Amino acid sequence: MKNKIFLTLTIIAGLLIQMSCTTETPTDLTKTSFIPKPVKITATGNEFELTKSTVIFVQDETQQSGEYLSNELNGIAGLKPEVKTTDKEPGKGIYISISEGENNLGEEGYELTIDKKLIRISANNSAGCFNGIQTLLQTLPVKANSDEELKIATGVIHDFPEYGFRGAMLDVARHFFDVEDVKRYIDFLAAYKMNVLHLHLSDDQGWRIEIKSWPNLTTYGGSTEVGGGEGGFYTHEQYAEIVNYALERNITIIPEIDLPGHTNAALASYAELNCDGKATELYTGTEVGFSTLCTDKEITYKFIDDVVRELAELSPGPYIHIGGDESHVTPMEDYIPFINRTQEIVVSHGKKVIGWDEIANASLVENATVQFWADVKNTTMGVEQGAKVIMSPAKKAYMDMQYDSTSTFGLHWAAYIEVDEGYSWNPATYVTGITKENILGIEAPLWSETVSEMDHIEYLVFPRLPGYAEIGWSAPATRNWGEYKLRLAHHGKRFDALDINFYRSALVPWE
Ligand code: ACM
Repeated sequence: MKNKIFLTLTIIAGLLIQMSCTTETPTDLTKTSFIPKPVKITATGNEFELTKSTVIFVQDETQQSGEYLSNELNGIAGLKPEVKTTDKEPGKGIYISISEGENNLGEEGYELTIDKKLIRISANNSAGCFNGIQTLLQTLPVKANSDEELKIATGVIHDFPEYGFRGAMLDVARHFFDVEDVKRYIDFLAAYKMNVLHLHLSDDQGWRIEIKSWPNLTTYGGSTEVGGGEGGFYTHEQYAEIVNYALERNITIIPEIDLPGHTNAALASYAELNCDGKATELYTGTEVGFSTLCTDKEITYKFIDDVVRELAELSPGPYIHIGGDESHVTPMEDYIPFINRTQEIVVSHGKKVIGWDEIANASLVENATVQFWADVKNTTMGVEQGAKVIMSPAKKAYMDMQYDSTSTFGLHWAAYIEVDEGYSWNPATYVTGITKENILGIEAPLWSETVSEMDHIEYLVFPRLPGYAEIGWSAPATRNWGEYKLRLAHHGKRFDALDINFYRSALVPWE
């Protein structure tokens, strides 16, 4: 009898233990699938519950962060927490504040502390607060029902990025994408703590930014695109809307005007930019390397000065990108003085120069940045001149490269880049002799020859983009594909909830 009772009690105890192990309460913060992976997570084994009565407390400096978080929570679960200013830490709710005292959080790091009653986000400035908010949002579903309990595991996250420059590019020249599409792209970057969007605003097939002093660039040069569609362009007001939307999400827009090649849209719009004084035809194909501005005509530099002046006025960010790539019909003896003079124009308008790696053939100005995409020799020449490097190796980081031979969109002239290939490399060791000290960060470009719709963009960008974000944010020693792919698998649910048309790579165990 005694034995029977003992046996029954043992079975009941066993069942209870099993039940408690299988219930899905998020009590271990270290089990959350954060991307990019934070520097340090400490779990404290309890839960914070977000409810209709949760208030977001802010300081004057963090008001905008509070409003942003409140809007995001509204989008998730219809909660729109009130945002209240306070001068001291509250006892409960969410508190976003600027850190006091010394810390190693830098420009963009943050500390996120989740207690049973209070969530604290603190950072040295609003960029750090923004990043802390993105981490907090990843503890929640992308969409929840209004009656769903929103519980967050307690603990502390101490986090800061490996690189200060973490970007993506969108080519709006080969195919045009409107303001709403660009905003959606910006949201993708912001969710993964990327802080740069490089817009490729001009190419042979189209000129996409209004230049008031040269109006034909857009009215004519922006009137088509690859395949002969109707193209389009951004007015100054629309461009400002993009820039501000990005700024609110800690993202700097880098505008690129590609020079002296990739300029057919300009050459078709203004006859005087051509050496023979005759305008070219608009171009809707996908060849590269056939166009060039006339480098020894004075009007060319008046044109560049006007374009850069208007762009600089529209750009709160520090950079203007001058392209410089694949200028195959510009003789090197003309290319070098052209790039030298164009750099001076950018500097005269108070901006820093970025160019594709070919610009290192010229004499780089102080603070110039070389964007490595193809040529190690060029990039090394740039570093020898004291330039910093943005790492965008086409074989690893070009998001327009197909995943494999069955990919619906994209090209493969540089490589097929499966999701693991895109993730498993280290910018600081990728090119011999170019080390972390030389590198500003990483950028993943998306060229748009084969993509004309947002759905197509999404297919190429997801799921690779979060990997590039992690390369930029998380130290190489903490990254490995085997562990990353499990976190990425979890993000598949987020992509679905956001209606993202992503590539379901067979290498990822999607949940
Ligand atoms: C490039 O891919 N032509 C920079």
